[in-house]
Amino acid sequence: MAQVVAISNQKGGVAKTTTCISLGASLAETGRKTLLIDLDPQANLSLSLGIHDDEAGETISDVLETALNPRKIKWDDLIQSTSLVGLDVVPSDSRLWTVERLISEVNGYEGELKRIAERWQDEYEFILIDCSPSLGPLTIMALTAANRVVIPIQTEFLAAVGLVRLIETIDAVREHTNPSLDFNLLAVMYDQRNGICREVLQKLHENFSAKLFKTVIGVDTRLKECVATGQPINQYDPKTRATLQYALLAGELEELSGGIQEAK
Ligand SMILES: Nc1ncnc2c1ncn2[C@@H]1O[C@H](COP(=O)(O)OP(=O)(O)OP(=O)(O)O)[C@@H](O)[C@H]1O
Ligand SMILES: [Mg+2]
Repeated sequence: MAQVVAISNQKGGVAKTTTCISLGASLAETGRKTLLIDLDPQANLSLSLGIHDDEAGETISDVLETALNPRKIKWDDLIQSTSLVGLDVVPSDSRLWTVERLISEVNGYEGELKRIAERWQDEYEFILIDCSPSLGPLTIMALTAANRVVIPIQTEFLAAVGLVRLIETIDAVREHTNPSLDFNLLAVMYDQRNGICREVLQKLHENFSAKLFKTVIGVDTRLKECVATGQPINQYDPKTRATLQYALLAGELEELSGGIQEAK
């Protein structure tokens, strides 16, 4: 059974997509077959892996659309391989904006992505979902499908604003559609020389110690560069700091998911 992990924070630009790709690539590198689902109409994850709107065959928009207009999906066309063995992706495209609006009218839409992901449960060890910066219907579907939410938090002033709302949303999903949903915080874009970063990290430790990943992701400009090449960071620069840190994060996530992995 795959561990399904949603990377979510309604705040924009906090490294959700970067974390989804880099963490997935680290898991794949250690032999854990991993599927990334791009659940953001911006399709940044797909683009970062070199898949453009017009080249994507079937996308997550097509599959979700079947909840509105049932038709046969070409499942084999949906999953695309990446430059890294063991790392596959279900791309997104901009039609997902419309699909999100329409699907929220469908009774029981919350469970739609879970039903879709069940198809891949036995084929992959990890399924990582890259969420959009919102708490709308797409995110509710992701949280319903997931075992765990990873919340990237920028180590800067006001970074935790909105966190209460996200945790309230997780609580609501637990109550209605997914009682066993867990979450963890991930401190990102940390600059040790910066006093504000150190202060924010300290506060995260004080307030969320048990929920905070020990691994902290530092600022690393190589992460910005690799996007243009379509390669994940561990392929683009195996020795850069972010590669090492995301590998540590993958180890922590595997440990957290240990029971499930061993039971396989
Ligand atoms: N550790 C890091 N060091 C330096 N730059 C980073 C780091 N992590 C992410 N970035 C950069 O920050 C920007 C935002 O990252 P990303 O697109 O992953 O955020 P996001 O949360 O997915 O954004 P959105 O909310 O729009 O989906 C990108 O340019 C990315 O390359
Ligand atoms: Mg993103």
